[in-house]
Amino acid sequence: MKIAISTGGGDAPGLNAVIRAAVLSAHDRGWESVGIRRGFHGLFEGDGVIPLGPDEVSGITHLGGTILGTTNRGNPLRWPKLQPDGRVVEIDRSEELVAEFGRLGIDALISIGGDGSMAIAGALHRRGLNVVGVPKTIDNDVVGTDTTFGFDTAVSTATDALDKLHTTAESHDRVMVVELMGREAGWIALHSGISGTADVILIPEIPFSIDRVCDKIRERERRGSHFSIVVVAEGARSSDGEAVLLERRGVGTNARYGGIAELVAHGIAQRTGKETRSLVLGHLQRGGSPTTFDRLLALRFGSAAVRAIADGDFGTMMAFVPPVITRIPIADVVGKMKTVPLDSGIILTARHLGISFGD
Ligand code: F6P
Repeated sequence: MKIAISTGGGDAPGLNAVIRAAVLSAHDRGWESVGIRRGFHGLFEGDGVIPLGPDEVSGITHLGGTILGTTNRGNPLRWPKLQPDGRVVEIDRSEELVAEFGRLGIDALISIGGDGSMAIAGALHRRGLNVVGVPKTIDNDVVGTDTTFGFDTAVSTATDALDKLHTTAESHDRVMVVELMGREAGWIALHSGISGTADVILIPEIPFSIDRVCDKIRERERRGSHFSIVVVAEGARSSDGEAVLLERRGVGTNARYGGIAELVAHGIAQRTGKETRSLVLGHLQRGGSPTTFDRLLALRFGSAAVRAIADGDFGTMMAFVPPVITRIPIADVVGKMKTVPLDSGIILTARHLGISFGD
């Protein structure tokens, strides 16, 4: 038995732990493992498939990033191809990929990634490849799994940043507006905002009014708190506005967010006269060592993926439904996004703590 492992999409802390668990679990069964470099690009590039054994995965559980490299460009289902007339058209290279897996004698693939990677995994499975998926993303927006690995680490990094911002905000009587990642889901902003004692949390699921945000800041002023911490998810938008994008790439919702914090900070400064600063925490949220929670979840996912292959349960994604790791059809995940339910206990908790959502 020979299995391949690929890591696709944006990196997330815990990827290496999945790789290690999968390789060691496969080795334990006497199977061979290979890794595909840079998502699936390695299969197109000749030198991009590397052997993985106990030596190659030694000492990597605590390392951020991925030893295989990754990419969130060049989806094999919509591969950009330059035409002789200078136009770029998107072509489907999945048949080519399946043929390459056959040529390399690969019996099964573990595809570790987010929604985009699951769509690719699903397509490869429909074309006859034996695939299992492992959900990864700091955004925590994959449906069917309570949590993706990488999320806990990102939340912990963001909470740490909020703790640090409190002291400088308070010293200067300033409003600090922090932009956090998450695309169309507010999970990182919500979890870190509550844990890091933010005064305002703006998430894509709850359109905000800048006037309501300023009401909260003024209310704090009246109570003698002359500083405020505003957490804004990168995909948040005002009730009469749109998400702020740096770049729209590809098609559909495949966009690059950025800039909402600056906009919110400007609105606050104008309306309240308060000295206001904004910052974007950005890719710091994707870096560093995975937390204990993420390491354990990632190791469990990697090992569960090999068990799924042994059971011949292909076309499934590993899912964490506490306390167990279970399997769900990849088809149930593709094209969907897990956003924050507005009636969830965590939203109610925030409201009871006096946190404003700007609504
Ligand atoms: O999906 C993970 C994520 O970090 C998002 O939170 C963010 O919008 C995006 O990736 C950033 O992508 P890039 O690394 O291409 O800037």
